[in-house]
Amino acid sequence: MSRKVILIASADNSWGIGKGNQLLHTVPEDMRRFRELTTGNIVVYGRKTLESFPGGRPLRDRLNIVISSGYQSSMEGLLAARSPEEAMRLAEENDPQEKKDVYICGGASIYRQMLPFCTDAYITRFDTSTEGVEAFLPNLDEDGSWKKVSWTEWKESIAGIRYAFVNYIRKN
Ligand SMILES: NC(=O)c1ccc[n+]([C@@H]2O[C@H](COP(=O)([O-])OP(=O)(O)OC[C@H]3O[C@@H](n4cnc5c(N)ncnc54)[C@H](OP(=O)(O)O)[C@@H]3O)[C@@H](O)[C@H]2O)c1
Repeated sequence: MSRKVILIASADNSWGIGKGNQLLHTVPEDMRRFRELTTGNIVVYGRKTLESFPGGRPLRDRLNIVISSGYQSSMEGLLAARSPEEAMRLAEENDPQEKKDVYICGGASIYRQMLPFCTDAYITRFDTSTEGVEAFLPNLDEDGSWKKVSWTEWKESIAGIRYAFVNYIRKN
């Protein structure tokens, strides 16, 4: 079995993803989709993203791997890696039969460094332009290594924001 390594993110019209160590928007439909896709799989993220989770706690029902130069994990379901390469190694060691996919969950520094490991990207696009964005995702539409393979119509969220789900795969 060969696993997918999937970059999963939400991004606005400028591929902005965060401000003040928080997401740009909290859209329930996006949160639900994130939960459904990642549950039962492996999630990898940076130390600042861990701190942005409720209570700074790992996500339930998933193997969590946080990347940090110094963080020591004492929480159940949370492994600490010292580098993106070590995070991938821990994923292999904990799921040698590759039954689970690995979801790369941010933030900006981790997306940038781990893009070369990714086979797929699931992007929630927000039809918004936010001022003061501090964290960005690489623009996959302008990256020749990536191909857009599916997308939904724009929908209006119950949070009042237009959003669409767009999936990409690596070309080779
Ligand atoms: N829209 C989305 O889908 C989405 C998803 C996730 C996050 N975000 C947003 O992204 C922003 C955070 O991004 P960020 O780039 O500031 O933080 P981040 O990537 O979440 O975390 C950065 C930290 O990760 C660790 N790290 C990164 N590269 C490393 C390496 N090569 N070796 C060891 N440790 C490494 C370091 O931790 P230490 O300092 O402990 O060494 C670093 O300070 C927030 O605004 C957040 O809300 C958006």
